[in-house]
Amino acid sequence: MAKKVILDCDPGIDDAMALCLALLDPRLDVLAVTAVGGNVAPAQATRNVQAIIEQIDPPRWPRLGAASAPDNGLPVDGRNLHGNDGLGGADFNVAELHHLHPSEKVICDQVRAAPPGSVSVVALGPLTNIARAFQRDPELPGLIGDLTIMGGTVTSPGNITPAAEFNIYCDPAAAKAVFRSPSTKTLIPLDVTNRIILTFDLLNHLPDRSTKVGNILHRILPPAFRGYRQQFGLEGIHVHDTVSLMAVLYPELFTIEEMAGDVETMGELTMGMTVFDRRRVPAWRRNLGVAKYLREREVIDAIRRGIREAAERAG
Ligand code: RIB
Ligand code: CA
Repeated sequence: MAKKVILDCDPGIDDAMALCLALLDPRLDVLAVTAVGGNVAPAQATRNVQAIIEQIDPPRWPRLGAASAPDNGLPVDGRNLHGNDGLGGADFNVAELHHLHPSEKVICDQVRAAPPGSVSVVALGPLTNIARAFQRDPELPGLIGDLTIMGGTVTSPGNITPAAEFNIYCDPAAAKAVFRSPSTKTLIPLDVTNRIILTFDLLNHLPDRSTKVGNILHRILPPAFRGYRQQFGLEGIHVHDTVSLMAVLYPELFTIEEMAGDVETMGELTMGMTVFDRRRVPAWRRNLGVAKYLREREVIDAIRRGIREAAERAG
């Protein structure tokens, strides 16, 4: 029985790669893909979600959700790494968007339409939509299966400030609300996603451009490699969201530890920081599982196998 999932994402090159793999994996039944602003503005994120789905044209199209800005607007974006359009300048054609429901409504409707606990959510961008869905339907945290979140850090430095990871930093209030919600949460932080670097060698082993997946990846990945080399001197790229999807597909490759975590929403220097009670005798209540280790070689192999098999399936 395929796992019912909702993907919430801010494409973003690593979001787009994760989306390609998820939409074509028979182990997943992607009920909806809901856009959230983050790497790019909300309207562009919505457009990018539709673009990837149109390019992949999966056997069963998921419902689409439209992104809207966080209450306090987006403090930052990811265009320096993801390109002005968020997809490395691929400039995919997109059919005109018909009236799309807001992402938070789509999340609530899809969860309510399925048996309790049967729909899992994978959050690959800021947590704006998740928090809004929980506000819209206060019973939702108890009705979703598990919530996997790409975001935060435990002991690693941040990637958008010294203290904060991008997804949390974009909407700290939303992240705090989600961390404090009674949902079953697993956090995939930079501490583990930074351990995966896809090297230039990947570009020589992508599916042929004539395939749907190959066409997408050949257009969005080279700019990412250039960006990581220019900005970080890195001979490869991180794919935080794709790694997080591997945690859903291959949980056995990750070591999860129950921790007590919260989000800073006031600090001048620490805004968006994820804080964990790691004292010998923690006083905070444990509220989420956190990925502490992963099996790097196997995760990289799973990503490369996923790309190959997705291309074979989509043609
Ligand atoms: O910090 C990494 C996260 O920020 C990823 O989800 C990436 O797509 C960006 O949204
Ligand atoms: Ca993302």
